[in-house]
Amino acid sequence: MIPQAYRQHYAVGAFNVTNIETTQAVISAAEELKSPVIVQTSEKALDYAGFDNLVGIVLGMAKKSTVPVVVHLDHGRSVDIAKKCLTAGYSSVMIDLNKLPFADNLSRTIEIVKIAKQYGASVEAELGGIMGREDYVKNSAPRLTDVGEAVQFVQRSGATVLAVGIGNAHGVPMANEKLHFDILEKIQKATNFPLVLHGASSTAASEITKAIRLGVVKINIDTDIRLAFSTALRKFMHANPDIYDTREIIGAGREAIYHVVAKKISIFNSIGKA
Ligand code: 13P
Repeated sequence: MIPQAYRQHYAVGAFNVTNIETTQAVISAAEELKSPVIVQTSEKALDYAGFDNLVGIVLGMAKKSTVPVVVHLDHGRSVDIAKKCLTAGYSSVMIDLNKLPFADNLSRTIEIVKIAKQYGASVEAELGGIMGREDYVKNSAPRLTDVGEAVQFVQRSGATVLAVGIGNAHGVPMANEKLHFDILEKIQKATNFPLVLHGASSTAASEITKAIRLGVVKINIDTDIRLAFSTALRKFMHANPDIYDTREIIGAGREAIYHVVAKKISIFNSIGKA
């Protein structure tokens, strides 16, 4: 999925899911638009739903899908959780050790890459820090990826893709959030490597297009899904105070997510690439 996106200059959407409805909405939008898609679960989502429950939902739906679906661990904080997901059948894991010194981040990433290879799975690593809050991940200030370190990391780690810190932030927009495209361009020129943009909710379509031109092939979206879901539920319940069938209520949220995901897939230029 990733090398093809890199060659053909589009990005694959990586959407965070937490339950049946979010997973259905993401996969059905990808199917409708004949787009490849990445369904990702954070450690907190796995804790919330119960590991086996959420894994069963995402792997089951991915297997039945009519388009390629990668099931990915988002922001794994330890070798153990990455191993657990690979054993369960995930086709990709992220190991987020960006707070460790460079040498430790590199050596542990190498360790995970070795294990992932046994499963034919991919590995996403991270260099530099992403601001904001995303489940168990929290940073108040940006740490921009160092270009020299990125070169060494992609040459030595064996990772499939690299998440970069270019001023991007998880969650709702932050006052000091600003994408440094000059840094992204330097990283891309120096590494020629597929890159990941985290915290892409509410990023303008023009900025997304620019990022894709500069080698971003995987784009993470969580907050826009949560906002669509919660807004739709509030509206639905306000408009229908007598409805108590939970499927109707949650169904309104599922539909809202479907539309958000379809819109992102179109911006990412992956329509018809399945
Ligand atoms: P947003 O919540 O800002 O969309 O970020 C999602 C993300 O990067 C998941 O790792």
